[in-house]
Amino acid sequence: MSPQDLESRSGIITTRAPGRVNLIGEHTDYNAGFVLPTPIPQHTTVQLIPTVATTVHARSADMPGEERSYRLGEEQRQRGWIDYIQGVTFILARDGHKIGGFDLSLQSEVPIGSGLSSSAALEIALLRALREAFALPLTDVQLAQIGQRVENEFVGAPVGIMDQMASSLGRPGEALFLDTDTLKWELIPLPPSVELVVIDSLVRHNHASGDYRTRREECERACVALGVTRLRDVDPVALGALDALETLPDLLMRRARHVVSENRRVLEMVDALRQENLDECGRVLDAGHISLRDDFEISVPEVDRLVEIATTRDDIYGARMTGGGFGGAIIALAPTGAGRRAAVDIVERYSAETGKPASVLVPGA
Ligand code: GLA
Repeated sequence: MSPQDLESRSGIITTRAPGRVNLIGEHTDYNAGFVLPTPIPQHTTVQLIPTVATTVHARSADMPGEERSYRLGEEQRQRGWIDYIQGVTFILARDGHKIGGFDLSLQSEVPIGSGLSSSAALEIALLRALREAFALPLTDVQLAQIGQRVENEFVGAPVGIMDQMASSLGRPGEALFLDTDTLKWELIPLPPSVELVVIDSLVRHNHASGDYRTRREECERACVALGVTRLRDVDPVALGALDALETLPDLLMRRARHVVSENRRVLEMVDALRQENLDECGRVLDAGHISLRDDFEISVPEVDRLVEIATTRDDIYGARMTGGGFGGAIIALAPTGAGRRAAVDIVERYSAETGKPASVLVPGA
């Protein structure tokens, strides 16, 4: 953890953790595949004061007046923001970690439900604070694993591990090339000649609700039909692998084709970034969007329109939806220095056409 991530003054521990975008590798993490996320400048900050009690008091600057309290050991799912706090203390206790009570205040710049991992940012910021406050012997990877279990076992969102790994291990200006099967990871520098654009469609999702879960189940059904345990194991280059996909019912074939081709796109993007081949980076983004829209069917018209407007511009290499889908944000790559202007123009044109708002998150003003 860098010194600016942590500040301890008169018993107050302040930590923060970033949201993320995923450059490519969507819905591959729960298929044991590859992902390539990068942190965004927006962070969630927590301030934690350890107390002698066994209660947790929490308040969120984003929801004034909404204070919540519970006793450690009596965590109960409430379907609200407090579940992420309760989930963290629940999983820590289940793993045998000893923590005491604390007062907590949170503040998040990461928009909620926009596909930018606001929940992972909260989990990792809180886990960093608890690690410091109670001297927990946890590595950054373990923080991410605990964060994923909070989602899976307490909140009820059947997500993979990408977001928590991105928030815990990511570094600005670098992409986290992660193999979610082995958790082997490597930071790939983003070329200085390219700038990331992030636009929020303001259409909100919730991964504890049905659609994300349905996609996950469809991938599992495709595995059974193909006789593999994970879609990661379908090698698109292997002779006959793509023919095998063709034997699936149409819907499962398209779901599997997305995952298999998306894993390959992660490897292509890593190569393109290493070679600073920005046209190729753009091609991979565009292909990723088409696959998510047509094969995986997790885009929405607002997001498709933002992507279409972006990809028709000369100053955009490529664009796609990012995150779990069903709303949320798009990313695009622009030449360095051109991103802000392009992003503002894209939003203006989108709003003029549709009458709907959208918001530029990156680059900042
Ligand atoms: C959400 C989940 C991740 C991942 C993405 C899709 O962000 O939290 O684990 O599955 O969707 O790539």
